[in-house]
Amino acid sequence: MESDATAFAESPAFTAALATLPSAFRWGVATSAYQIEGAVDSDGRGQSVWDTFCRKPGAIVDGSNGDIACDHYHRMPADVRVIAGLGVDTYRFSISWPRVQPSGRGPANPAGLGFYDRLVDELLAAGIDPWVTLYHWDLPQELEDLGGWPARDTAYRFADFAMLVFDRLGDRAPTVTTLNEPWVVARLGYREGRHAPGRKDLQDSISAGHHLLLGHGLAVRAMRSVARRPVDFGVTLNMSTSTPASAAEVDQVAARLADGMGLRIYMDPLHHGSYPQDVIDLLALDGVEIPVRDDDLAVISTPLDLLGLNYYFGQYFSGHDENGTAATDRPVFRQVPPPDDLARTAMGWPIMPDGLATLLLRIARDYPGLPVVITENGGGFPDPADANGFVEDHDRVDFMARHIAAMADARQRGADVRGYFAWSLLDNFEWAAGYRPRFGLVHVDYETLERVPKRSALWFRDTISRVREGIPAAP
Ligand code: FCB
Repeated sequence: MESDATAFAESPAFTAALATLPSAFRWGVATSAYQIEGAVDSDGRGQSVWDTFCRKPGAIVDGSNGDIACDHYHRMPADVRVIAGLGVDTYRFSISWPRVQPSGRGPANPAGLGFYDRLVDELLAAGIDPWVTLYHWDLPQELEDLGGWPARDTAYRFADFAMLVFDRLGDRAPTVTTLNEPWVVARLGYREGRHAPGRKDLQDSISAGHHLLLGHGLAVRAMRSVARRPVDFGVTLNMSTSTPASAAEVDQVAARLADGMGLRIYMDPLHHGSYPQDVIDLLALDGVEIPVRDDDLAVISTPLDLLGLNYYFGQYFSGHDENGTAATDRPVFRQVPPPDDLARTAMGWPIMPDGLATLLLRIARDYPGLPVVITENGGGFPDPADANGFVEDHDRVDFMARHIAAMADARQRGADVRGYFAWSLLDNFEWAAGYRPRFGLVHVDYETLERVPKRSALWFRDTISRVREGIPAAP
């Protein structure tokens, strides 16, 4: 069993893939504030939409919340030592907006900023580049009460918050990305109600998406205008391949629309300064408009230094309804299960490493000139720990090896990919799925909060050092 699971990671094919990566390739691990920090009432932190959402009965599968999470807020220096032990050169973390600016407006909370200031110093002292994400979903509750992301003003509040953080960390952080996965915020938070703040309105969701992008553009412009040293500015999007369920024309149309609503609705304004016409037309059928004003699109398409790409799985779409009838009066796209023969993670997500290569090549083709870093990739697996807390997570090793190989392949074929970050450093609070799915390279015992690196952590460290030291080319 074990040898099967690790066969690819130990294969000549994987070694050959690694050998194509430059020694300066960037390797990291990622986390986000609400998922690991805990300490929700410490040092003047305000409430976020996730604090509120977690209290809604039924919102989180196991009824849990981020009150304690991994208690990273109190264990940060030790966690930086854990990160250093992985041999990575980069740590991607997010800033809790309500910790820094408790009500989402007004002056900074010194204790909140101080935490991130110390984190950056600890990382630099350990030889690790801090990679800042400004927004990973924890909107201050007071801003949600004023309308949240569907309200245009939230974009301006975000830019102000960005400047508070940049003022303090901009002298030492080489990379600052604005948003993590705006699609998830807009779609799951404001349309499907599965994430905070739990709203369900299509117009709100579309407005939220536009204002997230506007906030991104305003923030990048403002930070760039005051930067005194070179800083790379970017944004992270989640991306998925949209494959037609069959060769039928109606399924092809469905997959193209799904791609529009998931990928092009963000990438086109960011890179081309325009929204895709098919998406505008589709929304119009429901009387929904993207609330573009004045020079919004020029702001949103402020040049990026890099694009963060989070990849977990690909999706399949049908233009037929549940009864198999092809849509005729208006286009539909219905997500359908992936083929049965695909293995899945414990989240039920199909394992599709080729999708990562497809997306990287697609970006190179449709949005050229944009360096990409994989800012998240990983899998949730059952991860039983032995008596010492050690986890033999061969399934995660296999998952990562296959995705790294797919990435290397796309790079060989012309994709400008510069780094790969594993999601996640630690097992943590997986949003609506609570603490059941474990994504960490490092196991967390939620009783004792003890951290123990898993097999995948040791494997990742060895993999990184193989690339850094240079793998001899095959004879
Ligand atoms: C991504 C999120 C991250 C984590 C992983 C599994 O969508 O950015 O916080 O939940 O999925």
